[in-house]
Amino acid sequence: MTEVSVAKDDVAATGDLVVLKSVNKHFGALHVLQDIDLTIARGEVVVVIGPSGSGKSTLCRAINRLETIDSGDITIDGKPLPQEGKALARLRADVGMVFQSFNLFAHKTVLENVMLGQIKVRKADKKVAEEKARALLDRVGVATQADKYPAQLSGGQQQRVAIARALAMDPKVMLFDEPTSALDPEMINEVLEVMQQLAREGMTMIVVTHEMGFARSAANRVVFMADGRIVEEAVPDQFFSNPRSDRAKDFLSKILHH
Ligand SMILES: Nc1ncnc2c1ncn2[C@@H]1O[C@H](COP(=O)(O)OP(=O)(O)O)[C@@H](O)[C@H]1O
Ligand SMILES: [Mg+2]
Repeated sequence: MTEVSVAKDDVAATGDLVVLKSVNKHFGALHVLQDIDLTIARGEVVVVIGPSGSGKSTLCRAINRLETIDSGDITIDGKPLPQEGKALARLRADVGMVFQSFNLFAHKTVLENVMLGQIKVRKADKKVAEEKARALLDRVGVATQADKYPAQLSGGQQQRVAIARALAMDPKVMLFDEPTSALDPEMINEVLEVMQQLAREGMTMIVVTHEMGFARSAANRVVFMADGRIVEEAVPDQFFSNPRSDRAKDFLSKILHH
């Protein structure tokens, strides 16, 4: 009996977490997402790469409904994205998002930044929220900065706080949109290390990045986008050593040999 239910749980705990089917999106005349089909399994780490303007950010924003889509379906954990209201706020919490610009609340302390969503969206008790926030700040290596304001932290520290804030909501999936692009070079690794750790712990992640070292070591799959389409997807080794499309070859030669 026990064995049977364990096996059932295993089945329920695997499978597809984020599914996009025939997703289309226009900005006026620009067809920014063209028939996107993308399935991300639970625990999978997918790195999305591609030239500037290819639609990577729009794809991320569509997944937590910061952008609406014109046609197609997006489901998270089997459920379509809610249109509005509390259900949408919960979805945004289920889908943690970390942007290039850190987007912390400037007039709240680091600790308050990580507590706020827990209290407002997850209805957590203040004391519980604080304990969890401190534990998460410790996990991303900024525990000693808890009482400071975001502007008093380095970019790398702010980005790690942004990750802690998203994690505080117990997200099902984390989206990272070029999280290290605005950072000074010496701060990039401290953020990538936190992301590597998350990946190792089994977090489902969609990561837009030009950090090919991260893609090689952390990604289960690389998705290459160009002009609003997914042109190619492959495991990292295969993608980097043997890209099939001319677009991907051209892109890789530019970013790997500059
Ligand atoms: N809100 C918007 N209104 C109009 N055009 C937009 C908007 N957001 C993005 N775009 C355009 O859509 C295209 C894809 O943008 P984006 O998703 O940001 O690409 P990427 O993240 O791959 O650089 C670009 O041509 C961009 O200029
Ligand atoms: Mg972008």
